[in-house]
Amino acid sequence: MMKEGKMIHQSVLLERCITLLTPSINRSANPIVVDATLGLGGHSEALLERFPNLRIVGLDRDTEAINLASTRLAKFGSRFTVVHAVYDQMPEVLSELGIDGVDGILFDLGVSSLQLDQIDRGFSYSNTAPLDMRMDKSSRLSAKDVLEHYSKEDLVRVLRQYGEERFAPRIVDNIIKARTAGALKTTTDLAEIVKSSIPAPARRVGGNPAKRTFQALRIEVNQELSTLERAIPKALELLRVGGRVVVLSFQSLEDKIVKQIFATASESKSPRGLPVEIDSLKAKYQLVFRGSESASPEEIEMNSRAQSVRLRAIERVAI
Ligand SMILES: C[S@@+](CC[C@H](N)C(=O)[O-])C[C@H]1O[C@@H](n2cnc3c(N)ncnc32)[C@H](O)[C@@H]1O
Repeated sequence: MMKEGKMIHQSVLLERCITLLTPSINRSANPIVVDATLGLGGHSEALLERFPNLRIVGLDRDTEAINLASTRLAKFGSRFTVVHAVYDQMPEVLSELGIDGVDGILFDLGVSSLQLDQIDRGFSYSNTAPLDMRMDKSSRLSAKDVLEHYSKEDLVRVLRQYGEERFAPRIVDNIIKARTAGALKTTTDLAEIVKSSIPAPARRVGGNPAKRTFQALRIEVNQELSTLERAIPKALELLRVGGRVVVLSFQSLEDKIVKQIFATASESKSPRGLPVEIDSLKAKYQLVFRGSESASPEEIEMNSRAQSVRLRAIERVAI
């Protein structure tokens, strides 16, 4: 089931992503970009239209996204290749395609509006659905498994770590009571449990109280942070000199991972205080700009998903 009238996915910071990838694409005779999170293919479509000699390899772990994006991008023929994969498998995917280096890699993290709008996938706390939350429907672990089988300690850890939920122990106590009574079956059951576990004054601030718990479960089910931690260093390795990795994060835990990996990669390994920097110890990567960028108030006004975006970009400057 799909929410009505919500099929259009507006790609976040679309023009900015294109601008950031332009120098890397233009410097290459046969440019290749990996869209690590293809989704509905909005970023890919715009890039393929803008650069007539560009080839894109698009990955997604969600077969429904793959099917929709494949149809949308079929008009680009062999310039677009789509692969059903988790993005930390990028080196293996590219090697199978005979590609040993790329000019750009784009990560637009998190769930797509397609996933949020397909009510039965259980990502949304505002609709009644089974507790699923898997981005890849063929993967093993669902939110139901986590909620039914995790110990109290593990559930508290997940809610604290991935949802930054300060009322985690109270929520988990109530989850355990409900699961024992067989009263935790749907997203609405879960949203109600969270609501009743949070003291009234805290409930009045910070939006829907279920948001943090749903985020935490989604991250656990899809192993989002550990996958990202493995994928970004692999992406950096795959860049040709002059190539860039551009990342759009939508919550602080993701952005923190990207920020730390980029900071380490762009740091010189030369000991401080040497009169000249030793070439082999110079940083192989350089931040394209300091810190992170956000969306403009105009974009946020048109697309609420842009509200929490943090954009970072890094360039390979040496082999
Ligand atoms: C925000 S959407 C991308 C939207 C896309 N940029 C567009 O403009 O249409 C994120 C997509 O990334 C996919 N995704 C999330 N984590 C992934 C992972 N670890 N590996 C592969 N795909 C992933 C999701 O399934 C989802 O389709």
